Amino acid sequence: MKNIHDFLKAKEEKRKITMISTYEYWSAKICEEAGIDCILVGDSVGMVDAGLKTTLPVTVEEMIYHGRAVRRGAPNTFIVVDMPFMSYQVSPEEALKNAGKIMKESCCNAVKVEGGEEIAKTIEKLVSAGIPVMGHVGLTPQSVHALGGYKVQGKTEEDRKRIIKDAKILEQAGAFAVVLEAVPSDLAEEITEFLDIPTIGIGAGNKTDGQVLVFHDMMGFFDKSPKFVKRYVEGKKLFMEALKQFSNEVKEGIFPGEEHTYK
Ligand code: KIV
Repeated sequence: MKNIHDFLKAKEEKRKITMISTYEYWSAKICEEAGIDCILVGDSVGMVDAGLKTTLPVTVEEMIYHGRAVRRGAPNTFIVVDMPFMSYQVSPEEALKNAGKIMKESCCNAVKVEGGEEIAKTIEKLVSAGIPVMGHVGLTPQSVHALGGYKVQGKTEEDRKRIIKDAKILEQAGAFAVVLEAVPSDLAEEITEFLDIPTIGIGAGNKTDGQVLVFHDMMGFFDKSPKFVKRYVEGKKLFMEALKQFSNEVKEGIFPGEEHTYK
């Protein structure tokens, strides 16, 4: 993906979009080399990288720090940076200031915001200033306390209608794509058919226009994974084996060997 028009073209041409949420130079470099379409510098960084219980404490400065690292690792990839909690909810003006700072200092291509109707004016403001915006509905982790936990959304008829309406409002406000998180797959399919902009699903079944996973989840670094995560490799096990081998070899005087030693 070079720009937001490529996202729309992918939907028109029924080409699935791949997005990975990641936060470091090295993992971004691997994503770019693997040909991933888009990298999201998610505010999940707070939970995945910093061990927080929620994404709420993450700051604009932290997102910029990680955005810059990802840009250095993936200079040719379309990068979206999450706007953290309370950096866009107060007013469209404050959102514009923060989004502008994130764009300028991280050199990303777009920002992502969570929510529906209540942030439509904010999206309009950012888009009219030339800032591409990705939306995010369904399970919106920044509202975890209001939602009562990390639960599947859109299970009641009323909730379904609200999520469909919110997704349409995001499109009308100018969002170029929307993340659908933790919703039943038939709801994700309905929204995907209803919208002209692409939907990118996580825990939303396989009828969306694209899929996103968190790098560290799909690489199997955690003991437990939610149902929607496919562990493509058992990363923790591999790393543990390497670390134990290093430890044994150092203690037994095997490492460093001749080949790792300067003469
Ligand atoms: O913060 C994040 O990584 C995200 C994705 C899970 C969509 O918002």
